[in-house]
Amino acid sequence: MMYMSVIIGTPLQSSAFKVLLLGSGELGKEVVISLQRLGVEVHAADRYDGAPAMQVAHFSYTLNMANAEELKQLIQQVKPHLIIPEIEAIATEVLVEVERQNIATVIPSAKAVNLTMNREGIRRLAAEELGLPTSAYRFADSLDSFRAACDDIGYPNFVKPVMSSSGKGQSRVKNFDEVDAAWEYAQTGGRVNQGTVIVEAQIDFDFEITLLTVRAKNAETGEIETQYCDPIGHRQDAGDYVESWQPQAMTAAALEESKRIAHKVTTALGGCGIFGVELFIKGDKVWFSEVSPRPHDTGLVTLASQFQSEFELHARAILGLPVNTTRHSMAASAVIYAGVDDLNLSFSGLNLALVHPDTDLRLFGKPEGFKRRRMGVATARAETTDQARELAQQTAAQISIHQN
Ligand SMILES: Nc1ncnc2c1ncn2[C@@H]1O[C@H](COP(=O)(O)OP(=O)(O)OP(=O)(O)O)[C@@H](O)[C@H]1O
Ligand SMILES: [Mg+2]
Repeated sequence: MMYMSVIIGTPLQSSAFKVLLLGSGELGKEVVISLQRLGVEVHAADRYDGAPAMQVAHFSYTLNMANAEELKQLIQQVKPHLIIPEIEAIATEVLVEVERQNIATVIPSAKAVNLTMNREGIRRLAAEELGLPTSAYRFADSLDSFRAACDDIGYPNFVKPVMSSSGKGQSRVKNFDEVDAAWEYAQTGGRVNQGTVIVEAQIDFDFEITLLTVRAKNAETGEIETQYCDPIGHRQDAGDYVESWQPQAMTAAALEESKRIAHKVTTALGGCGIFGVELFIKGDKVWFSEVSPRPHDTGLVTLASQFQSEFELHARAILGLPVNTTRHSMAASAVIYAGVDDLNLSFSGLNLALVHPDTDLRLFGKPEGFKRRRMGVATARAETTDQARELAQQTAAQISIHQN
């Protein structure tokens, strides 16, 4: 007995099933493509025109999504069935209200979006409510309390604005002499000038992983079930991912513990969709670091490694469809940075990059590049993850970026 039928209308017609994407970056772009393939009408928003996901959506809107009034107006105008927050800088109180009044479904849930936009919310949930292992941590909102927090936690430690991502405003503090500069840097690098930072003890891990975790409905019973992709290993540089590979080899005990942690935190956040659970691993020991309630940048590798990429998994899960997390290949991804600050860039060497039959590319189409802005990604499949990493790096290195 099937629990109920999932219905999708016709895009651009009155029956359309509408999704509003808040944040139109490269991960959102792939989600849009996956949704379009299933006949969904997609509306994409961002703070600037021509953002990657806008280029493939049916409709696009440029606004400040951190402004509650502007966001409310957009939701009233579009009348979406689902709202997918793709970035963290959103007026989340509006989403809480939208969910409470049943105006639309927030993906995966307003609670998840609200808690994960701020490092304090998710850290307290994971460590204090759920009792998951994390690094030791303190919060500080003034230079004095920050000095005391660093003293308490010891060195080296990691300092991060509570409202930030992609390594912005983040630093590793090696000793007392670096404390004041780290505070200054955190104050200028955060997303919203909120002042509060988290000080985390350094975890001495062997490697770190993203465990992509999908909460999707069982097609027959309608019950939400949790499924996992194979663990993704990755390398970070200045708080930003530069390469990833799947699978990351690890002990059976560490994998089991990783799944236990991922299950606990994603169950607490609720809703349907994919989550990127970031974990630190040392031998059999696992620490929870953070979680994205959406596709994860390191998960771009799944475009090459899985039957359903993390974007397809997300699209299916949020529509109430069954998912398949099976990996078919060993694969890796390598990031392509702009390397310059300029608009209207050109990319050459694509033919050379794609000579090897097991490689692929995504160029995101961002209208403006910055030295450390991610403009594309190369993926590769091989017999081993080491070979795949090598090939993905070579593929990325073939791309040259030119100013016009
Ligand atoms: N407590 C810690 N111990 C050891 N390494 C850490 C710690 N905190 C952060 N790191 C390193 O810094 C990286 C970035 O940290 P984190 O994921 O918290 O920042 P982020 O800005 O959210 O990054 P992103 O948005 O790219 O995920 C981690 O992936 C890890 O490599
Ligand atoms: Mg992270």
